[in-house]
Amino acid sequence: MVGLDIGTTSTRAVVGDFNEEDQLEIIGVGVAPSTGLRRGVVLNIEATLSSVSSAIESAELMSGREIHSCVLGISGANVESLNSKGVVAVAGKGREITADDIGRVHEAAKAVSIAMDREILHVIPQTYSVDAQRGIRDPLHMMGVRLESEVHIITSSVTTTQNMAKCVNRAGYKPDRFILGSLAAARSVLSSDERDLGCLLMDIGGGTTDLMVFRDGEPWYTSAVPAGGMQVTNDISIMLSVLMDSAERLKREAASCWLESIDADELIVVPGIGGREPTEIPRRKLCAIVQPRMEEIFLMAKEKLDKAGYLKDIKAGIVLTGGASLMAGARELAESVFGVPAHLGTPPVIGGLGSEYRNPMFATAVGLVLLEADAQLALDPSRGQASARKDKSRASSLGKIVTWLKDKFI
Ligand SMILES: Nc1ncnc2c1ncn2[C@@H]1O[C@H](COP(=O)(O)OP(=O)(O)OP(=O)(O)O)[C@@H](O)[C@H]1O
Ligand SMILES: [Mg+2]
Repeated sequence: MVGLDIGTTSTRAVVGDFNEEDQLEIIGVGVAPSTGLRRGVVLNIEATLSSVSSAIESAELMSGREIHSCVLGISGANVESLNSKGVVAVAGKGREITADDIGRVHEAAKAVSIAMDREILHVIPQTYSVDAQRGIRDPLHMMGVRLESEVHIITSSVTTTQNMAKCVNRAGYKPDRFILGSLAAARSVLSSDERDLGCLLMDIGGGTTDLMVFRDGEPWYTSAVPAGGMQVTNDISIMLSVLMDSAERLKREAASCWLESIDADELIVVPGIGGREPTEIPRRKLCAIVQPRMEEIFLMAKEKLDKAGYLKDIKAGIVLTGGASLMAGARELAESVFGVPAHLGTPPVIGGLGSEYRNPMFATAVGLVLLEADAQLALDPSRGQASARKDKSRASSLGKIVTWLKDKFI
């Protein structure tokens, strides 16, 4: 199982497999810089395919396996979502709801008009009603006359998906299926309690910040803010007149987006450009550049949630993931903007390799492998019983996505 996450700054490939005890292990990871994308959209095919090649080749080397295909994560500014409802009459014998009825109600809910240039990436059942009884999670074998389903539909631009697939194909690999990056990240960093109670997953990457609101275990809102860590680096480079490389290093090593925690007399060294001497500046000056940009990202996300009516639903708080969530003070700033608790989401311990993948930057790529493993376990339940039991709390409510994947692809 290979998860491929093509990002705006890096491409990551993660290889997983079941060991002799049927437990999932991560056996290889590969990372390569990515320059061919802007805000999750491919602008340069050649650059993207060479990034894909080198990430997968590194993962091949580490895992000692030959890779032919992968599960491809789709994210970025071109992803949109809507919620829809479908109703059908129960046709099963004696009015018992069958898998066929559930399939039909999903089809009915899916019948929405979407623009010609968009395609449906996922249809995720949220809740069912049987006659007057609402809020049912699994209606199979229940008795009733009328079955209603609410679903979350995620669409992406046809050209975005095609271009991503083209890069992977031309690099010599076959994309087996496309999965929304946020769903994969959710699989690797959210607990089932967080999904049940209601939370916001924020994947702050290099070029985009992907948002997903979960409530009652399922996604209800998917969106993205067109800004991320690259804008922060850009601000530092311009305001301190340093090269992008130095700005990136300053950001990672000395910046914080929570000014309150920085002493007024702390100094940092800023490299000079073009033979100029390095200078010393107060660390607070760097943080005063970084904080407004990070705050802007959180405020844009908050405004989106507020407009869509989901701000009240994030009772369990915010889970921050993606590379830019590693910025010092990100948690504190998110808590102050949203007024709810926030924490960093890191992929779980899976076994196999060391801990390289246990970093928020790997949330999506690791999640793609976890979802693929879930799908394989759903197909062959006798396999991996031990690992399924171990990871049941996380897998349970994303099981519907897996079911959907199974219906559509297998
Ligand atoms: N320690 C750190 N502190 C602050 N920022 C960091 C740190 N480590 C990485 N970053 C930032 O994280 C960003 C990259 O994150 P990530 O790899 O999740 O993005 P991506 O997946 O390539 O992009 P996207 O998801 O937007 O397409 C970069 O902007 C990088 O500067
Ligand atoms: Mg990303």
